[in-house]
Order: sequence, then structure tokens, then C-alpha cells
Amino acid sequence: MSFTRKVILTLSTNPFVTRFVSKYGMKWGAARFVAGETMDETVTKVKELNAKGLVVTLDLLGESVTTRKEAEAATQAAIDSFEVIRKENLDSNVSVKLTQLGLDIDESFCLDQMDRIVAKARETDNFVRIDMEDSPRVDATIRIFDALFERVGKQHVGLVIQSYLYRSQEDVRKLGKKKANLRIVKGAYKEPKEVAYPDKKDVDRAYLELVEQHLKNGCYTAVATHDDAIINWTKQFVADHDIPRSQFEFQMLYGIAESLQLQLVREGYKVRVYTPYGKDWYPYFSRRIAERPANALFVLKSFFRK
Ligand code: FDA
Repeated sequence: MSFTRKVILTLSTNPFVTRFVSKYGMKWGAARFVAGETMDETVTKVKELNAKGLVVTLDLLGESVTTRKEAEAATQAAIDSFEVIRKENLDSNVSVKLTQLGLDIDESFCLDQMDRIVAKARETDNFVRIDMEDSPRVDATIRIFDALFERVGKQHVGLVIQSYLYRSQEDVRKLGKKKANLRIVKGAYKEPKEVAYPDKKDVDRAYLELVEQHLKNGCYTAVATHDDAIINWTKQFVADHDIPRSQFEFQMLYGIAESLQLQLVREGYKVRVYTPYGKDWYPYFSRRIAERPANALFVLKSFFRK
């Protein structure tokens, strides 16, 4: 992980920085990465994306809740979002973070919340994907995924795997045995070198290996990256191995690499846009700045335009 990225991720937990940016950030720049603070604003944005041929995964912003009440409210919001998707006829599924659903409070309580969410996903013939958070939570996240998978199967629940973790090849091997639907990402958290590759080139190489491994196992794979080289490699790999387009999709974040998203749609690939919404945008926003410090310049420029 680069020095700048480490500094930004560390600063993002500083209480003064948090208060200051939370107050002004949405106005200055977070709106570039967040579809809206309300569901109504978000529905309008999702319809615009769908009209361009992009499909969506909706993510209610929020993580690391400390009370059951907050976790239950987030559970209800996820359940409601499936209703909105059905009612508004949106082409979208849902992504969730387990620390928003009480993982740090009690694992079995969190599983109960997820049980309700996957039941709604099944009832509305839809799909929920569990985002992957920082490394101390990976084991519990996989345990919860496994339990849900037993109940509803791959059509209604999926998981994320991060290529920066040394353990991921083994995790993908195990998850591949049951044909789990996986999103492969590089990984967005500040991790120690004991658990994650410190060098970007190793993270990129591991990414390709995981995609190859999962596709060759015949499993549905979401290739979630804005990295041109990885996207081009994937296109070539699927062509060389006769992998049907129904077995994979590309995924990118709302507000990032939009012309590449549309280019892939024009080429006939499925592209899903991870679309966050809600008021609790600060930690998500900090990770986007850390990935690309040039984004901080964009935010500063918006500030001086005011
Ligand atoms: P990389 O960082 O190498 O960037 C490649 C190129 O993409 C850059 O050169 C730049 O052009 C562009 N780019 C990347 N980030 C940008 C940014 N913030 N702003 C502007 N341009 C940018 N992580 C995680 O730990 N758990 C998870 O569950 C998820 N979920 C998830 C879903 C989806 C759909 C995506 C696309 C990503 C995630 N991530 C994630 C985040 C992921 O781990 C990673 O941090 C980002 O995708 C950035 O890495 P890239 O793969 O884009 O490559």
C-alpha cells in the first residue's frame, strides 16, 4: 500500500477530519460517488443508469454500527430496497456490509438479520451480495455466507473476495467447490503485510489468478475493477476459453470510469454499477479518495468554485 494511501486512510479516522468533512463533503465532492441521500433521488439515478444499458447493485451506506437498533434499521432498509426495486421495475440487486448489520455486536444476531434479507431476496426473485470488509472480519463473513448459502443457494446470495489477501486463493478454491457467485476485488482497507500483499503488482497478479481460477471452475464471476489491463485480459481470457457471457459480468463503482462502463455495454458485456446511497457516506468516500489521491484535488476544486 502506498504511503499516500496509508496517510489518507489514517486521517479518515481522525475525529476532527471526520466532523469537518462530514459537514461539507457531500456538497464539495462526495456527490460524485454517491447517488443520493434519499431513496427517491437514488431511484432517479438508477433509472438513468438502466436506460444506458447498465445494471445496478444498490448499497445503503453505513458500516460498523454499535447498537442492535441501528442494525435492525439497516436490515429493514435493505428489505425495503428490494420492494422499491420491484415496484419501480429497476434492474438492480443489493449489496450489504455485515458490520452495518451487527457483525461486531454478535455474529448470530447478524446472521438473523441476513436471514431476513435473503428471505426477501428470494421472495422478490432477486440477489444480495455480501461485501467484504477488513481482514479481522473475513472468517465470520464467510461463516455467515456459508450458512445463508445452505438456505437459499447461489441464485440469491453471493460474496466478495479481495485479491490483496494471501488467503484468498484458498477461499476461492473452497467457495468454487460449491459454485458460489463471487465478486473479485483488489481490496480497499488498510491491511498489515502479515495478511495482505504490500505491492500493487502482486495484488494485480493475484487478481488475475483468482478470476481465472473461478471462471475455469465454471462459477459466476463478477470482475469488479476499473483497471484497463485486467478488463482487457478478462475479455481475452473468456474468448480463448469459450466462457459464455452469461457466466461473468464487469462491475464498477458509481461515478468512476463512466466512459469505460458505457464502452463495455456497447461491446455487449454486462456491466453492473455499484451504487451507494444514504447519509452515512464518509467512510466510503474516504476509501475512494485513498485509492486515487487525485480525487482529493477534485474535491478541493469544487470547494474553491463555491
Ligand atoms: P486500481 O486501484 O489499480 O485502479 C485502476 C484504475 O482505476 C486507476 O488507474 C484509475 O484510473 C481508476 N480508479 C480506481 N479507483 C479510483 C477512484 N477511487 N477514483 C477514480 N478512479 C479510480 N473493496 C473491498 O475491500 N470490499 C468490497 O466489498 C468491495 N466492493 C467493490 C465493488 C465494486 C463494484 C468495485 C468496483 C470495487 C469494490 N471494492 C471493494 C473496491 C476495490 O477493492 C478497489 O479498492 C477499487 O475497485 C479500486 O481498485 P481498481 O480495481 O479499480 O484498481
